[in-house]
Amino acid sequence: MDAKVILLGCITTYTILLIVVLIKLSSSPTIVAKAPVGQTAVVGDTSPVTMANSLVSNRYFMMSNKSSNATTIVETQEMLVRRENHDVTPSAMARTEPQKQTRKHYVSCKWHYLDGLGNQMFQYASVYGISRANNLTILMPEFIDMGQRIFSLTAERTKSKSQQPGFKWKKHWTGRECCKFHKDTMVMYKSPHYRDRDIEVRGYRQSWKYFKNFEDEIRKEFTFQKTIQQQANYYLEVVMKQTFGNIPRENVTLVSIHARRGDMMGKNKEEYGQIISTASYFNRAIDYFNTHLNKSENLLYIVFSDNIEWCMENLTRSDSKIIYSRNNTADVDLAVMGQCDHSVMSIGTFGWWGAWLAGGVAVYDQRWPRPGSPLAKNVNKEDYFYPGWVPL
Ligand SMILES: *[C@@H]1O[C@H](CO)[C@@H](O)[C@H](O)[C@H]1NC(C)=O
Ligand SMILES: *[C@@H]1O[C@H](CO)[C@@H](O)[C@H](O)[C@H]1NC(C)=O
Ligand SMILES: *[C@@H]1O[C@H](CO)[C@@H](O)[C@H](O)[C@H]1NC(C)=O
Ligand SMILES: *[C@@H]1O[C@H](CO)[C@@H](O)[C@H](O)[C@H]1NC(C)=O
Ligand SMILES: *[C@@H]1O[C@H](CO)[C@@H](O)[C@H](O)[C@H]1NC(C)=O
Ligand SMILES: *[C@@H]1O[C@H](CO)[C@@H](O)[C@H](O)[C@H]1NC(C)=O
Ligand SMILES: *[C@@H]1O[C@H](CO)[C@@H](O)[C@H](O)[C@H]1NC(C)=O
Repeated sequence: MDAKVILLGCITTYTILLIVVLIKLSSSPTIVAKAPVGQTAVVGDTSPVTMANSLVSNRYFMMSNKSSNATTIVETQEMLVRRENHDVTPSAMARTEPQKQTRKHYVSCKWHYLDGLGNQMFQYASVYGISRANNLTILMPEFIDMGQRIFSLTAERTKSKSQQPGFKWKKHWTGRECCKFHKDTMVMYKSPHYRDRDIEVRGYRQSWKYFKNFEDEIRKEFTFQKTIQQQANYYLEVVMKQTFGNIPRENVTLVSIHARRGDMMGKNKEEYGQIISTASYFNRAIDYFNTHLNKSENLLYIVFSDNIEWCMENLTRSDSKIIYSRNNTADVDLAVMGQCDHSVMSIGTFGWWGAWLAGGVAVYDQRWPRPGSPLAKNVNKEDYFYPGWVPL
């Protein structure tokens, strides 16, 4: 065979192969992606997928399961591109960097796309507090829909934080335990390590200490959208009327009971250290309010749960008025909880925020987290529960 023919044959073969590969890359729904080096993400944690420093897809996130180390690809409509564990080199950044000191710097976090509302509220409130303490501007991705759908948060929003021109993201690693306060995060501005940088704080940051100095501002941030608040008010009007007839709101004492069950049950969660509150805990909580409140004749308990059937069968009292919230969406439920006078929490941040928004007496299940469990290592109760909240 002639050398030219062989060469032509080779080129053709490679071209076909290349096309096949390109078609595969662009159409294949299975994306092979590596977990960020050296990291074990928790279940529900989402990581942007990058490979060999280039984006595999801007529509897929990777979720890894801590207990099995298995990874799952999760599709999302939104785009969040970041280089994992590749610190952007200063020289590469220098070209796009605007004049020093003139632009504001940002703080963001690894937003948990798949997380529930309570976790996202914690992230927002804490990053907000961190931003105020360090004179940074809070930045959040557009895909966190609580920002506009549930509240109207003041944070600047971006489609992709890695695409903000000239940004020098620096990760702040300490404080990744879910429920501990790390006070160094509040004074990052003092450290040359973080100066003139945009900072991405990692972890859930579930401690009121991150935002205790800015609570009034956080309350404004967490003002529900009008339609949600209206639905909550209407629901309350209806249940109060059903229970007491025509009676002014101030003559009624409302206590919310949040009974988180469904997704927190199961061997894995329990081994990790989660505690499912029992009927006996809720009964102690009701006893507590029945004896500690004055207006007990006009006292109404409203139960919220992801397993309301369990509550209707197992959380009943002949000596107390109890209503079960069955038809509201989670955001309306949270708004109703915020309108109550006092709160009974079980595990989870949703109930935590219900109690915080209500602002009255809050009781919590003191068995959480199970002592000696992996979770217990990540929790500092003084950081998580407000002083004055009542352990039962
Ligand atoms: C994580 O892995 C464990 C152990 O294989 C499994 O039981 C559990 O269902 C997994 N969780 C998810 C969310 O896939
Ligand atoms: C998951 O990976 C970590 C780090 O490589 C390892 O220590 C751990 O034993 C693994 N867990 C399982 C269940 O394979
Ligand atoms: C806070 O940052 C802005 C730039 O966004 C700067 O103009 C201002 O001087 C800073 N304030 C303090 C107290 O550092
Ligand atoms: C509400 O409480 C006020 C003050 O305690 C009392 O004067 C009033 O009669 C009460 N109204 C109703 C409808 O119970
Ligand atoms: C109950 O009423 C008494 C006397 O009016 C008051 O001192 C006390 O603070 C009230 N307790 C609560 C829980 O409102
Ligand atoms: C009520 O609790 C009992 C005992 O734990 C349980 O067997 C039953 O399934 C519960 N009811 C519902 C509706 O979940
Ligand atoms: C709420 O849902 C239950 C069960 O689906 C239904 O029976 C009830 O009528 C609903 N209540 C309201 C106020 O819509």
